[in-house]
Amino acid sequence: MPYHPFFTILCCFLFLSACSQQTKNKVRVGGSCEGCEAIYESPVPFDALDEVDTLPDFNDPGPRLLIRGVIYEANGKTPAANVILYVYHTNQEGVYPRRGNEKGWARRHGYIRGWVRTNAKGEYRFYTLLPASYPNSTALKHIHPVIKEPGRNEYYIDEFIFDDDPFLKPEERNRLEQRGGNGIVTLRRQGDLLVGIRDIVLGRNIPDYGRTAPLEDTESYVFSRPGVTGSRILQQ
Ligand SMILES: [Fe+2]
Repeated sequence: MPYHPFFTILCCFLFLSACSQQTKNKVRVGGSCEGCEAIYESPVPFDALDEVDTLPDFNDPGPRLLIRGVIYEANGKTPAANVILYVYHTNQEGVYPRRGNEKGWARRHGYIRGWVRTNAKGEYRFYTLLPASYPNSTALKHIHPVIKEPGRNEYYIDEFIFDDDPFLKPEERNRLEQRGGNGIVTLRRQGDLLVGIRDIVLGRNIPDYGRTAPLEDTESYVFSRPGVTGSRILQQ
């Protein structure tokens, strides 16, 4: 086969293009996040999760809460399926409770935590109790969320906080980063439940999100776990 310089140039171009794409995907989305990797401590594989979870405190005394919503792609319109949402929060005394046998991040986050995976409509919901403020503080009641979407690293979004929280002052509202969109939830009573709706937009106000592109083939469903050999592939 005769040598053709065009072939060499084409190979170089394809090689550089692949390198550039790899570099692009190595950019960490959302900045540093201590504890976000707790999302990988799901008690069941990600692909065995569904859009609903009931957190371990739900049958304890306290205000029963249902949080639900839709997670959208960055365009704010297309429902995002197969997005993992990890949440954890304090108990009715305002502490992250532990049973004593916790491993990993549960030693910090406590056992009141849960995982959901959005369905084809982007929907998620979880049942829990309304958390309390930290003891002797004016801290807002809050639920910590971490997102893991296919093809990108995990990142945190604004905490779920509550519109009727007496400690939620105007200046506090103005300080919110609105990562993933507005995290202020309005609660409405439905029977014995308080129900709050929060829709989430992937990448909204998330640093470096626009600089990265998710992997486009089946690798986009790889959930890499930092520090752990191997990876898992979420079945479509
Ligand atoms: Fe907290």
